[in-house]
Amino acid sequence: MVTSAIAPTLDVSYSEHVNPQWVRLLDLLEMNVRYERCLGTELFTDDGRRILDFLSGYCVHNAGHNHPAIIAALHEELESRGPAMIQTHVAERAGELGRKLCQLAGGRLSKVFFGSSGSEGVEAAIKFSRAHTGRAGLLYANGAFHGLTCGALSLMGDSFWREGFGPLLPETEAIPFDDLNALEQKLASKRFAAYIVEPIQSEAGIRVPSPEYFQKAQALCRRYGTLLVLDEVQTGMYRTGPFLASQRWNLDPDMVIMAKAMSGGLVPVSAVLMTEAIYHSVYGSLRRAIIHTSTFSENSLAMRAALATLEVLQDENLGPRGIESGAKLRSKLQDALGGYEMIKAIRGEGLLLGIEFRSPSSLRLRVPFEAFMHIHPAMFGQIVVMRLFRDSGILTQICGNNFMVLKVAPPLVVTDGQIDEFVAAITAVVELAHSSTSFWTEALGLARRAVGI
Ligand SMILES: Cc1ncc(COP(=O)(O)O)c(C=O)c1O
Repeated sequence: MVTSAIAPTLDVSYSEHVNPQWVRLLDLLEMNVRYERCLGTELFTDDGRRILDFLSGYCVHNAGHNHPAIIAALHEELESRGPAMIQTHVAERAGELGRKLCQLAGGRLSKVFFGSSGSEGVEAAIKFSRAHTGRAGLLYANGAFHGLTCGALSLMGDSFWREGFGPLLPETEAIPFDDLNALEQKLASKRFAAYIVEPIQSEAGIRVPSPEYFQKAQALCRRYGTLLVLDEVQTGMYRTGPFLASQRWNLDPDMVIMAKAMSGGLVPVSAVLMTEAIYHSVYGSLRRAIIHTSTFSENSLAMRAALATLEVLQDENLGPRGIESGAKLRSKLQDALGGYEMIKAIRGEGLLLGIEFRSPSSLRLRVPFEAFMHIHPAMFGQIVVMRLFRDSGILTQICGNNFMVLKVAPPLVVTDGQIDEFVAAITAVVELAHSSTSFWTEALGLARRAVGI
């Protein structure tokens, strides 16, 4: 047995046995801090820093970090010593959660499959849509992020994620997002089981489709017998205001995939909501009662955490509150940043916002910017992220499939004061990028170090 006296530090153990490249990347970005306590929107480090979270773990922490009511529910569940993963019992809490999710989602969604991650939900949706339609083809949108398991990855066009992991699923095809003609052209072949798509594309750069797109896309899908499957993994759970982002367009999808914020950031969980007809195509006989399942599906801690999270989000009115805070944040960002030449757009819904940067037009800024882009297209955005973190104690990230967009997605409990703090911090960084050579020299130094390692 290793005693604590000779055990290596946790950081070293992580590097030796988990993922040293991740540690190197965080070190390079000066973001490798040790978090001790996380509460609401604030993260406290062991060296006394307080970090404001404007990332929410990619939309996991809608209810805020470590919400006391969710923690209390989990304590109670553990203390009750109730059935957990017996695997041969009816998990009653799954029934309760399933009922609530279907009620909130509305439409024809009446059955739920539970899993443990967003990708697992996407995998289930792929299988279920094939079983229901008898077709193999799967359509997805350019720029999509659906997860990194093989099936989900087959629905993501970006070569960065796919390279070296093929062959992936055959008969998957991409179309441009928000393009009805392209969609109809593909659907008309009647080869596609499902169109799997995010209502608002998060990692593609917070892309909000034109208001009529989804109603028309849904009608086209119906006409050609293709299921409309909405990936609400990031956008669900009131992130953009309504329970599901797609509810702003009054849709009636065939399946909805949820995960991330479902369980207060404390227990892995995901859900695939589907119609009765799809359920029957998959589980239609006694023989097929467990034809698709997984060990941790319906586990009591995840179910309990999700029930408590729903209660918190509703009791604290976090959907409407997020709409209000999001509108304030967006207009303050517009006022503060709108005039800078490198700011292209500020967009999004509720508290899923993005600040899009663009290549500067003036020669003075274009030269260092292009040099940067040449080294790595994500470098500029990462410097913004690094500076926000180091200089102002604010945690953000750029979008995974669009490096020119800074994602702005604080927990829904964010206060007006914290919004002002963020706006002041990002304005200072943007001002620095436009006015000071130190921003660019430091950034080029970092870019060189990154290429060197
Ligand atoms: C829209 C979307 N779908 C699916 C996934 C995959 O979820 P997970 O990482 O839980 O597998 C993600 C993850 O970021 C996502 O953003």
